[in-house]
Amino acid sequence: MNKPTVVSGIRPTGYLHLGNYFGAVQNFLKMQDDFNCYFFIADIHSLTTHPTPENLQSGVRQVLAEYLACGIDPEKSTIFIQSDVPEVSELYALLNMNAYLGELERTTSFKDKARQNPDNVNAGLLTYPVLMAADIIIHKAHFVPVGKDQEQNLEMARKFAKRFNRMYKCDVFPIPRPYTFGGGDMIKVPGLDGSGKMGKSEGNAINLYEDPKSIRKKVMRAVTDAGPTEMNQEKPEVIQNLFTLMDIVSTPDTVAHFDELYNKCEIRYGDMKKQLAEDIIAYTAPIRERIIDILKDDAYLAKVAKLGADKARESAVQTLQEVKDVIGFKKLF
Ligand code: TRP
Repeated sequence: MNKPTVVSGIRPTGYLHLGNYFGAVQNFLKMQDDFNCYFFIADIHSLTTHPTPENLQSGVRQVLAEYLACGIDPEKSTIFIQSDVPEVSELYALLNMNAYLGELERTTSFKDKARQNPDNVNAGLLTYPVLMAADIIIHKAHFVPVGKDQEQNLEMARKFAKRFNRMYKCDVFPIPRPYTFGGGDMIKVPGLDGSGKMGKSEGNAINLYEDPKSIRKKVMRAVTDAGPTEMNQEKPEVIQNLFTLMDIVSTPDTVAHFDELYNKCEIRYGDMKKQLAEDIIAYTAPIRERIIDILKDDAYLAKVAKLGADKARESAVQTLQEVKDVIGFKKLF
């Protein structure tokens, strides 16, 4: 087994949406055969925002069911829950001794969160990148598929791995690199609010788990303009975004049809949105059905979580032992 190792995590703080699916999950599916993949649910990270036990639990179940419903295969990949692998927390404690206040305080995501929530600037938020580094290097990852917003955190992970190797004159940790999907595979899914990308916190997202009624409502409310006034005129961003969504979920014929109407200034956005909503529903319905079925099957969820935890711990226990050996913890009895 000489496949390179990949680690990626997701915080269980909401439903997966079309942006996650086409931007990230579909690429995970393609990686499953060629890499030794660890995909996990970062439940400890989510504690920085103090979820109730009920919300924590349902968030974890939801993401697990969604990963499985999307086709992440627990036989091929290691799918696990972060808190099921206590070695991660132990490595986190050890790495914290080598992470400096100054560098942690300078992290953009820390500064942003501290500004947004001045009443909850907890130490977990400050050391978030250290826990994330532990997640990654405990499996000796070579690659981490991350979006733009996580690049700095990954840079910190690289720094902590290098620092540890240097400090103990060892090469326990490979230095993890960002994995970017070859240009053509990278799909950026626009939001429904006319600008930018679909995001959990932007309120412009359609979830995989969304019911048809709600999908129709959201799509019909999507921002448009007054309509084209000249033949073949260039599409403004808000309209291009609708076409981009259509490119992703509809057939080429459908896209060509509305494109032609647009170019002839005969388009009716209401018709286009109706079609778009139906095509999104057709695309997501089977995934949604699977999510619903899997959520009903507690025994299956438990089995998958156990299998993943066992596989993840195997590699985590081994790395942690190496770490303890080089640090100099000796067994006295
Ligand atoms: N910080 C990531 C996010 O918010 C989640 C995450 C936690 C992660 N640990 C990770 C991602 C390790 C990749 C690798 O999206």
